[in-house]
Amino acid sequence: MTIKHYLQFADFTADEYARLFERAALIKRKFKNYEKHHTLTDRTLAMIFEKASTRTRVSFEAGMYQMGGSVVHLTTGDSQLGRSEPIEDTARVISRMVDVVMIRTFEQTRLERFAQHSRVPVINGLTNEYHPCQILADIFTWIERRGSIRGKTVAWIGDGNNMANTWAQAAALLGFELRVSTPRGYEVDSQLAALDNPPPASRKAWQNFADPLQACAGADLVTTDVWTSMGYEAENEARKQAFANWCVNAGMMAAAKPDALFMHCLPAHRGEEVAAEVIDGPQSVVWDEAENRMHVQKALLEYLLLGRVG
Ligand code: CP
Repeated sequence: MTIKHYLQFADFTADEYARLFERAALIKRKFKNYEKHHTLTDRTLAMIFEKASTRTRVSFEAGMYQMGGSVVHLTTGDSQLGRSEPIEDTARVISRMVDVVMIRTFEQTRLERFAQHSRVPVINGLTNEYHPCQILADIFTWIERRGSIRGKTVAWIGDGNNMANTWAQAAALLGFELRVSTPRGYEVDSQLAALDNPPPASRKAWQNFADPLQACAGADLVTTDVWTSMGYEAENEARKQAFANWCVNAGMMAAAKPDALFMHCLPAHRGEEVAAEVIDGPQSVVWDEAENRMHVQKALLEYLLLGRVG
C-alpha cells in the first residue's frame, strides 16, 4: 500500500486542500466550544527536531493530545541522530513504533530519505526548502478572514526562502497571484518553487519585482519572514545590509489594498523584516496564523491517518 506523506505543498491537490480547510474549520469550532474530538485515540506521533521550534512543537503536541493521541519528542542532541545514526535506520526503527512522524530538519533530501524508509506517513515540519504546514495555516487564516484565496494577490517581501518557495507552489495549485520581491542574490529558486505537474492556468502564478513597494501595490495580502532563516546564521551580517530596504513598513501596507492583511510565520524581528507598527497594527493577523497551525495540522494528521473523514 502506498503511504501518503506531506513533504511539500505540491503533495496534495486543490480538492484535498478544500477538504482539509473545511475539516480544520470544524475542528477549530469544536476546540473553541470545549467539545471532545478524539479521532486519534491510541495513535502516536513522533516529532523529530533538528532545528529549534516553538509553534511547530506546541501545535503538533497539543493537537495530538486533544485528539486522544500521544507524542514522542526527539531532538538531534538527545537521540542517536546526533551520534551519526543514518537517517534511513532512524526511519526504519521509529516508524515501527509510532503511527506518524513529523520532522524539522535541514535539506529536503534528508526528509525525503526518511520518508522513503518509513512505514508510516511523514510530515515536513520545516526544511531549508519548504514549510508547507505554515502555508496551510496561512491560507486557512486568509479563508477565515476573507473567503477564497483564488484570484487574490499575495506580496512576498524579503528572502526567497522555504516560505517563499511554498507560497509559490500554493499560488500555482490554488489559483492566486504571488509577487516576490527579494534583494538581488536572494531570489526564489524557480525549480524549488515549481510544481511537477502544474495546472495550465498556473504558468504565471508568481513573478519577481525588484521594488518591494511595487510588489505591494494593490496586494490583498502582504507577508514576509526573517532575513536570516535557521541554518544561515553565518550570513547574518551580510544579510542585514542586503535586506535593509525589504522591511515591511506602513508605506508598503499603504500601497496595498486598504483592507489588505499582513502575515508573518514568526518568530519576528521588529525593525528588521517588519516594522513594529505593521506587525502590531490592525492589519496584522499573525496571532491567528500561529494558533491556526494547530487546527490545520489536526486536520492534516487525521487525513494522513484516517483518510477522508466527516
Ligand atoms: N513558524 C514556525 O514554524 O514557528 P517555530 O519555528 O516556532 O516552530
